[in-house]
Order: sequence, then C-alpha cells, then structure tokens
Amino acid sequence: MKNNTHYDLPSIGDARKRSKEKINIERELFNIPAECRGLGNGRNYFLRTYGCQANQRDSETIAGILEELGYAACDNENEADLILLNTCAIRKNAEDKVLGEIGNLKKLKRSNPDLIIAMSGCMAQEEGIVNEILKKYPQVDLIFGTHNIYNLPKLLFNATVAKEKTVEVFSKEGEIIEALPSSRFMHHKAWVNISYGCDKFCTYCIVPYTRGKERSRLIQDIIAEVKDLKEHGYKEVCLLGQNVNAYGRDLDLQNGFAKLLEEVAITGIERVRFMTSHPWNFDDETIDVCAKYSNIMPYIHLPLQSGNDEILRRMNRRYNSNEYRILFDKLKKAIPGCAFTTDIIVGFPNESDEAFEDTLKMLDYCQYDNAFTFIYSPREGTPAAMMEDNVEMHIKEERLAILNEKVAHYANLNNQKYLNQTVEVLIDGVSKKNDRILSGYTRDNKLVNFTGNAKAGDIVNVRITAVKSFSLDGEMIEE
Ligand code: 5AD
Ligand code: SF4
Repeated sequence: MKNNTHYDLPSIGDARKRSKEKINIERELFNIPAECRGLGNGRNYFLRTYGCQANQRDSETIAGILEELGYAACDNENEADLILLNTCAIRKNAEDKVLGEIGNLKKLKRSNPDLIIAMSGCMAQEEGIVNEILKKYPQVDLIFGTHNIYNLPKLLFNATVAKEKTVEVFSKEGEIIEALPSSRFMHHKAWVNISYGCDKFCTYCIVPYTRGKERSRLIQDIIAEVKDLKEHGYKEVCLLGQNVNAYGRDLDLQNGFAKLLEEVAITGIERVRFMTSHPWNFDDETIDVCAKYSNIMPYIHLPLQSGNDEILRRMNRRYNSNEYRILFDKLKKAIPGCAFTTDIIVGFPNESDEAFEDTLKMLDYCQYDNAFTFIYSPREGTPAAMMEDNVEMHIKEERLAILNEKVAHYANLNNQKYLNQTVEVLIDGVSKKNDRILSGYTRDNKLVNFTGNAKAGDIVNVRITAVKSFSLDGEMIEE
C-alpha cells in the first residue's frame, strides 16, 4: 500500500454541465518535465485497449507518450513494468471485463511490487467505479481520465518515483489538445480525430459524461494530419467523432462536416471513411460530397438504436423511424453500391413486443450489411438509468437472438452479390486464424480472406470464390 496519495476524483454532476464558453486549443500543453525524462528507460509497458475507436486512438497517444519517456512496448503482462488498461464504460459487461482483469493482476503485483498498474479511459471518468477501485482494488497505482492524458509524464513520475497512489480525473467540458505524441498501431490505416465529446445526451449513453462537450478540431489541423499520413504512405483515414455530422457547429461553421470531408477527399488519399454518423445531423451537402468523390468509401455506419418511435423519443434520439427511412433512402440512391451498418439496442425500458417488432421491420426495410446489437445496460448517472428497467432479462436475450438471426440473414444476402466478382482489397496483414491467408477490406468495408502473395498496405484485386455472412473468401489476381 502506498502511504502518499494525490487524488483528483471524478464527479458526474460536473461532467453533465455544458457552458457556452469557447473551447481553447492548447498547442503547448504537453511537455516532459526535466525530472520525468528517461523515466521509462529500460522499462517495458503493456497496454490493453477496450472499446471504441476513440479509445484506440487515445491508446496510440498514450503509447506515443510512453515511448517518448523511454518505455518499450511488450505484449506479455509478465514482462511489463507498467500495465495500463485503457477502459470502456459503454455497457456493464465492458466494465466487468476490466474489473476481472484488474482482479487477475493482483497476483502479478504481489510477485513484483515495483509493477505499476494504471487505468485510464471512460471507466476512470465514472465516480462510482473510481470509488470502487480505491476501496477494493489496492493493486491499482494510477488512475487518469480522458482529459488527463497529456499529463501522463507527471502522473507516472508520481506513481513510480514519488510512490504516490495517483488519481487525476477531471470532469470538465475539455479543450482541444494538439501536438501530442503518437505511436500508431497500423501503418497503412489511421484514425484521425475530427471532434471530441458529445452533446447529444441520448438517455442511455454515458459518453457525454465521460468525454465532455462536443468540440471540433480546426479544419487546417485535420488536413495537415491527413496530408502527413498520406506522405508517410497511409492508404486510408477514418475520420473519428462521436457524432461526425455535428462537426464544426461549435466553430460556427455551416455544413462543417461536408466542407471538411470534401477537403479530406481532395488531399487524394486513397480511401476516406468516417464514423460515427448521427441521423439527426446528416445533411444533404454531406450526401453530395460522399457521392462526388470516388475516394470516399461507399460505407456508412448509421446507428438506428430502435425502430419504434416512442422508444426513440425516450432515448432522445431526435428522429423517428420515418425520418430515418427517408435519410436511408436518400443515401442509398445517392451512393450506388453503398454498404450500411447500424447499432441496435434491445430491451430499453418499456420496450414491448410490438416496439421490438418495429425494430425488426426496420431491419427488413434497410437490410443492413451488418449490425452491432446490444442488450440495454443501465449506466449510473444517465436519465435512462432512472427509468424502470422493466423488460425481463430472458426476454431481452430472446430478442437479441431473434435480431441477430435477422442480421445474419441480411448480411449473407448482401454478400451473395460478390460471388465470382473482383473486388479491390486493402491488405491489413495475415489472417488471425491462418498465416497463409491474407486479410483486408474492400472499399465498402467487407472483410475478405484470400490467398495470394502481397503484404500489409498493398491494394490488390481479389476474385471472390465463396461467401459467408460476415466475410468473403477469395484468391488474389496476380498482375
Ligand atoms: N446499453 C446498451 N448499449 C449501449 N450503447 C450505448 N450505450 C448503451 C447502453 N447503455 C450502444 C449504442 C451505441 C453503441 C456504441 O453502443 O448502440 O451506438
Ligand atoms: Fe452516446 Fe448518443 Fe452521443 Fe452516440 S450520439 S455518443 S449514443 S449520446
């Protein structure tokens, strides 16, 4: 147990606040104080990331900072001097996984008392979770929040050299912090943040509390990053925001996302995609830009959440099923061959059989290429958590199974059209299951496993020889 402490604890009340104040852009916030230089020399770090792409991108920043401090990455917890879990709070099962992992690390800490165990990400922003960890998991040395990443050198110094148990979690709207180091995990595809936070406050969602106010990076900073990636051989960028379609509203830009997307396309980088879209903010200008540029991938992730109007209203989604269908039809017409995926929640409070049927009807209408489906999970501090969670678990599970069957059916149906066709694939690397098989994604974001002689980052043509629900098999066409 550490005797000294440095605590700055999260507060859900503060996390909820939104002001009208302009967002600061910080370009010199990150630095490595003299006493922290070389802190990681001769030390290994093990970093595990849970959850969404925003967290993956944050992990690349964390890795970049650690490497500037001299730490070396390792992929075995037993060899690590620092274990860092970058966590997700979106559903209870995501949290349970992390708490289980922290529990397992207790043994390792006992056998190596110098080991530093750190936790960051969305769980660190949760008041209840941080209190639980402080009470029940003394093996955790350092907790820092999503707004505190830039300060990692000092926090690590506190935990490692000053031997203080350190918690620094700010619950604030947040700023834009530029010029942070970055060690990217892939060398041909990159995540590019365009905005942070979320102001939508869907009633079930914890993200507006864990990631602060919706705030957009400047177009010129984003374009500079994309150009730099292109010059370094990157083939694909994915523009990231909790709600990309709201990009630029805080900068008083009209149709900000359409303008940004067009500028990114004009850089000429091979492939551009974006996520996540919100149906409420998806404007016609953006649809036109998607249709105009061939390097914008014909692939759109458009979360539906529910097909029932009353549930959508109580989720505070700001659209009804008809408005969603109209948008979907417009996109489908404007972008020929576009693939669509979605997110759906079952078992939201008061979801009746009829309401669930409405969701199934929307699936029949949209016939998605894939859908990510979830059982509703109450999140402490959100409005939905105050509603009575009155759908029995076995019913939620039954609905999920019915839904998943339908999702697989349409995924398979959509994939049939690729049989014997030639598709363009950007190679990620060898398949996880078999190292003689390459895998990558088509322009419409279909996973393809194939035989051939090429390497990660190559763009090749593949003839599809077999079709599954969630992937395609093929053979590369040698030029
Ligand atoms: N319970 C279940 N699913 C949720 N999601 C967000 N919050 C919750 C929750 N409390 C889902 C939504 C969102 C996706 C990222 O996670 O479908 O689009
Ligand atoms: Fe959560 Fe809704 Fe914001 Fe998406 S748009 S992050 S679901 S609050």
